[in-house]
Amino acid sequence: MSSLRLNALEITNYKNVSNASYTFDAPIHCFVGNNGKGKTNTLDAIYHLAMGRSYFSAVNAHTIQHQADFMRIEGQFKRDDRMERIECLLKREATKVFIRNGKKYKKLSEHIGLLPTVMISPSDVDLINEGSQTRRGFIDRLIGQADKTYLHQLIQYQKVLQQRNALLKQMGRYGQGANETLEIYNEQLVSLGSPIHQTRVKYLSTFEPLFKKRYAAISGVEENVSVWYQSQLLEEEFGKLLENAATQDRMAQFSTVGIHKDDLVFQIDGYPIKKFGSQGQRKSLLIALKLAQFDMLKQITTVTPLLLLDDIFDKLDEERVSKIISLVHESSFGQLFITDTHPERTEAVIKKTEQAFQLHHL
Ligand SMILES: Nc1ncnc2c1ncn2[C@@H]1O[C@H](COP(=O)(O)OP(=O)(O)OP(=O)(O)O)[C@@H](O)[C@H]1O
Ligand SMILES: [Mg+2]
Repeated sequence: MSSLRLNALEITNYKNVSNASYTFDAPIHCFVGNNGKGKTNTLDAIYHLAMGRSYFSAVNAHTIQHQADFMRIEGQFKRDDRMERIECLLKREATKVFIRNGKKYKKLSEHIGLLPTVMISPSDVDLINEGSQTRRGFIDRLIGQADKTYLHQLIQYQKVLQQRNALLKQMGRYGQGANETLEIYNEQLVSLGSPIHQTRVKYLSTFEPLFKKRYAAISGVEENVSVWYQSQLLEEEFGKLLENAATQDRMAQFSTVGIHKDDLVFQIDGYPIKKFGSQGQRKSLLIALKLAQFDMLKQITTVTPLLLLDDIFDKLDEERVSKIISLVHESSFGQLFITDTHPERTEAVIKKTEQAFQLHHL
C-alpha cells in the first residue's frame, strides 16, 4: 500500500481565500471558523490541486477571487518517498496551467490519478436530487481516477458527440444529406462508447458490494440498498441502438442514445430513494457512496486517498464521526481534512480517537 500526504499548501486569490499558507504535520486536520470564512473553499483548493478542477464550481473563472486577475494554488505532496510539487495557475481569460515538479503538463488529464482524493460535502445531495448528469459525473470521477484509458476514451467520446450533434442540427429536421459523415460519427461513437460501457459495468460491479458494506456499517440496520447501473447499452448493442434511433435523432436534432444517457439508480428495499427515502437514509446513502469510492480507489490504485470532509456534522453524529476518524487510523498513512464551525465539538471527538491532529483557525 502506498502512502499519500499533503505536507504544505499555499493559496492565493482562491475564491474568498486571499492568502493562506499551511504546513501539515499530522494525519488529521481541521479548518475551523465562522460561516463564510473560507473553510469549504480551502478544502476545495486541496481538491482542485489533486483533481485538476473545483469540486463545487463548474466554471473555472468562478474560482478566481472577485476583483483579482488570477488565482494560484501550490501544494507539496509526498507520495511514497517522492515529493510532488504541484502548482495550479489560472489567469482570467486564459487556460488553466498545471505544473508538476516545475514541468507543465501538456494535458490536464495526465494529472488525474496521481493524487487520489475523495470529497464528502453537504452538496452531495445533488447526487440524489439532481438529474442524471450529476450521477454520470460521479461515475466518471470514480473510474477516471483509477483508469487513464477510460478518461481518454471519455474525452474523445464527448468530442465526437458534440460533432455529431452539430451535424444533426445542421441537417435540420427534415433535411437530407450528410449521411456518410453521420455514419462515420456513428462508428466512432460505437468504438469509443462500447468500451466505456464495459468499463462502467466492470467498475460498478466492484463498487456495489463496497457500497452495501459501508451502508450497513453506517446505518446499522438491515436494509437492502442497491446501486443499479442504468444504460441503454445493457438492452441492445450500441451500433444497433444508433441505427434504430436514426429518425428520432434527426427529429430531435441531437443524439438521443448512447452512454451519455447512462444513469445510476439508488434503491432501498427495492424502492428508489429519490422518491421514498427518509432524510436519515439519504444521508447514510450519500456517505456510503463516498466511502465506497474511497475503498475502491484504495483497492485499485493501492494509494490511500486523501479524504476531505466538509461540514462533518452535516451528515454524521459524533459516533459516526469517530468511526470515520478511526478509518483514517486503520488505513495506513491516510490523511483527513475536515471543516467545522465549532472547534470544541470537533476537538472533543478527535481527542477520543487519540490521534495526532491540528486545528487551523480561519
Ligand atoms: N470567486 C469568489 N471571489 C470572492 N469570494 C468568493 C468567491 N466565490 C465564493 N466567494 C465567497 O466565499 C464565501 C464562502 O466561503 P466558504 O464556502 O468557504 O465558507 P465556509 O467557511 O465554508 O462557510 P460555512 O460555515 O457557511 O460553510 C462566501 O462569502 C462567498 O461569497
Ligand atoms: Mg462551508
